[in-house]
Amino acid sequence: MTVLDEQTIAQLVEDDRAHLLHSQHYAPQHEQPLIFESGKGVWLTDVRGRSYIDGLSSLWNVAVGHGREELAEAAATQMRKVAFANGYNGFSNVPAIQLATKVVDLCYDNMEALFFTNSGGESNEGAFKMARFYWNLQGRHDKVKLISRPRSYHGSTLATASMTGLPPFWKYFGPLMPNISHTAPPSNPESADEPNTDGETAEWLEEAILREGPETVAAFIAEPVKGAGGIFTPSDDYFPHIREICDKYEVLLIVDEVITGFGRTGKWFALEHWGVQPDIVSIAKAITSAYIPMGAFIVSDKIAETMKNLPADAKFMHGYTNSAHPTAAAVGLRNLQIMEDEDLVGNADRMGQRLGEKLHAAFDGHPHVTNIRRLGLMAGISIVKDAGTGEAYDVAEGHGAKVMAHMRDEGSVIPRIINDELLMAPPLVVNAEEIDQIVGAAEAAVRAVTGD
Ligand SMILES: Cc1ncc(COP(=O)(O)O)c(C=O)c1O
Repeated sequence: MTVLDEQTIAQLVEDDRAHLLHSQHYAPQHEQPLIFESGKGVWLTDVRGRSYIDGLSSLWNVAVGHGREELAEAAATQMRKVAFANGYNGFSNVPAIQLATKVVDLCYDNMEALFFTNSGGESNEGAFKMARFYWNLQGRHDKVKLISRPRSYHGSTLATASMTGLPPFWKYFGPLMPNISHTAPPSNPESADEPNTDGETAEWLEEAILREGPETVAAFIAEPVKGAGGIFTPSDDYFPHIREICDKYEVLLIVDEVITGFGRTGKWFALEHWGVQPDIVSIAKAITSAYIPMGAFIVSDKIAETMKNLPADAKFMHGYTNSAHPTAAAVGLRNLQIMEDEDLVGNADRMGQRLGEKLHAAFDGHPHVTNIRRLGLMAGISIVKDAGTGEAYDVAEGHGAKVMAHMRDEGSVIPRIINDELLMAPPLVVNAEEIDQIVGAAEAAVRAVTGD
């Protein structure tokens, strides 16, 4: 760890503000950026030497925790052999072949092959193109539309921002991509299904498919747990019913496991909770624990079969220079080995249960907290004006932001706040004491901000 002096920090802040455009850039909220310098386990340390629990795994990313020498070694070893080589058709490399085989093996039984990307957004965009490609090969040339959901987050490319069901991601970027639409509450809200924690049911999809015309719909995309939209968990009957609806109307089910893939929910892949198999799976983040960017979309045996027998005029003209990157793949392989050796999926399940129990003990019956939801190591609570009626605070009053600031400054925990939803998703290596610190910081912050 290197602690920097105040003059150096001031210069860094000035240069950052002058020259670095950040994700979700907004200068007024970047006057005093927290500049990280190092990390170990669930802890991140800033340039002043102050440490914080990384309560959202640095954007749901760093599954095995910070500062893993094994991953640095894996990257260095591969870089010394060959850091990068062309992976286009006709060329390959050893770690990429091994990682593809490993991931397909860990994923749902019906998964067969994958295409490597560099990010979650590229995975989702590729998954959508794959769905169109597949239907075109079946002679179903009208099946071009994609249906997505409100409160979903799928990325920031033009197509994935259009899939994303969060309007702030659309503002000033329009027009959005055509042929992408979102589910909405059905005209008859009397639904037989148990609703998800944000109120959505599978009927929303059925009505959207009928509205668009089933013969025009290529695919439906959904996160098993809506993440950046506020951690909203599904009811147990939601995904089984979604699978039935997709089968009924011949719509491919793309599951966006960019957050939930590789153990986050206490299973390797989240639809295992409900015994459902999708057609395409998007992954990124925890495949390398973000030590190097990497992602993929994985396709079922049915789609893989089509890809093995392409007609002469149907080359899959989709590609990225850095796809199947050898160094990223070597890091991915070592990362998955750590997850297996240390049973991090089991730890996510056990620590997730503790997180849930502690949250309920802290907030059940609290006058300003409602909708406590969790799956594995993903948990969210809603901070509201009146938990009895569910009446929300005016978001402009900034209760969520104040809770976040209190947790960071007084509790040494960095969670995520989306409006007044407080989100927690620590690295899968988190231990019981650290879970208790996260919940303790949340409890103290909510008390300080709401007065109760
Ligand atoms: C569910 C989900 N899909 C896709 C993405 C986009 O991933 P990336 O930022 O790597 O493009 C994210 C990012 O947080 C995500 O949470």
